[in-house]
Amino acid sequence: MTTAPPCPAAADPYRPRFHFTAPRHWINDPNGVCHHGGRYHLFYQYNPHAARWGDIHWGHASSADLVRWRDEPVALAPSPGHDQGGCFSGCIAVVDGLPTAYYTGDSSAGQVQCVATSPDLAHWTKQPQRTIAERPPGVSPGEFRDPYVFRDAGHWYMVVGAALPHERGACLLYRSADGVDWHYRHPLFVATDPAQGSVWECPNFLQIGDRWLLTVSQWPNLGALWFVGRFDDERFVAETSGVHDVDGSAFAHLAMRAPDGRVLQWAWINEQRDQDEIDADGWAGAITVPRELSIDGRGRLNLRPAAEVALLRGEPLPLGPAAPGPGTRLRLSGRCLDIEARFALHDRRKVGLTLFESPDRRESTRIVYWPEARRLMIERARSSINQKTRRQDLYAVLDLDPGEPLRLRVLVDHGVIAVHANDRVNLTTRVYPALQSSTGVTAFSEGSADVELQAWPMGSALEGRGA
Ligand code: FRU
Repeated sequence: MTTAPPCPAAADPYRPRFHFTAPRHWINDPNGVCHHGGRYHLFYQYNPHAARWGDIHWGHASSADLVRWRDEPVALAPSPGHDQGGCFSGCIAVVDGLPTAYYTGDSSAGQVQCVATSPDLAHWTKQPQRTIAERPPGVSPGEFRDPYVFRDAGHWYMVVGAALPHERGACLLYRSADGVDWHYRHPLFVATDPAQGSVWECPNFLQIGDRWLLTVSQWPNLGALWFVGRFDDERFVAETSGVHDVDGSAFAHLAMRAPDGRVLQWAWINEQRDQDEIDADGWAGAITVPRELSIDGRGRLNLRPAAEVALLRGEPLPLGPAAPGPGTRLRLSGRCLDIEARFALHDRRKVGLTLFESPDRRESTRIVYWPEARRLMIERARSSINQKTRRQDLYAVLDLDPGEPLRLRVLVDHGVIAVHANDRVNLTTRVYPALQSSTGVTAFSEGSADVELQAWPMGSALEGRGA
């Protein structure tokens, strides 16, 4: 398959530089993340023909350091048979020394789990005889996808996303002795509440320390959930839970264990603008930076950008003169930044950051923490004068302990915004400021908080893309 030249980033104000994007056209879920042959590998749902979902292949990129990515040839393409409607999401496990991709084949006959192997992650052989056809009664053929494979107690296990009767999202557990023949066990975990989604997609199940973490993406409510608990006798007992990425701006998470033992995770960041705008620019979607997952002493999922992201930082930016207005207002400027802000709160008034602000304030995006309401928000009502962009706010609940400062780490990348608050609550989304002058960044406090702000310009993560 010939590879079209990448969409140039320099001419496009919205094309991210340090969040991975497909060279051009459409990207959705991260797939098959792994470390092999001394490099990290990121595969992804890819339409090589258009900037919209369809004819889904597995695209491929690799990286020596986790942040600078090199495009590799497309890994998997649909072919007549189980996956002729698309090579949907999945994972890679090394089985008997052989990298093995488990993915969902989509066709008019329904969804089945397929297998392909490759000694070098470049040349793939599909193993059609090895599809896992056993779909439990009642599971809809069109809602049975996204295998995630792990090893425990001498067995291979697989979880698959599904919808059970009465519209309950679920993930199903399979077991295998050799990674080839799989046997259905039972649902590993099922939605307990309709608000948790009628279909669960992209389940991940892995051990972190002495706990087990389950993450699922929920359809159609869009959003991701996490559950932490025990895996006893092949049953998952959840003890704590929370919302992972609210509002579905980051979706379809996929985690792997790095050689040094860290759990790293990526997710798809979807577009938030009309399709005609996307078609005109010729590309859609991005992938989060690698995030490092851990579980704290209270059983909460913690998540922060992997330490390597800081390799892309330039020299710290100077702060401009304090902005006029009440309270503290520290200022700088840029559209491709890594920002750290710290707010020691002395009252219950709002604090936060304004991003992408034009001097006339016609455009601005606010990240706000409102202690009174325990809410962290991204306010997009004035993010763009372009009416073809989403402008609803995003909310997450953030409880601070008494005396705990608010610590914001914010990645800003030409319209991608990823907010990490106190390493345990995150919001990710897209905005599309249309005015060239929308570059202002201000840290503000409406009350009497002590505010610290530091920011670094970020370099490009995409080798050979001319960014
Ligand atoms: C999630 C998802 C997966 C599916 C893939 C298809 O975004 O719907 O469930 O495998 O995308 O591209």
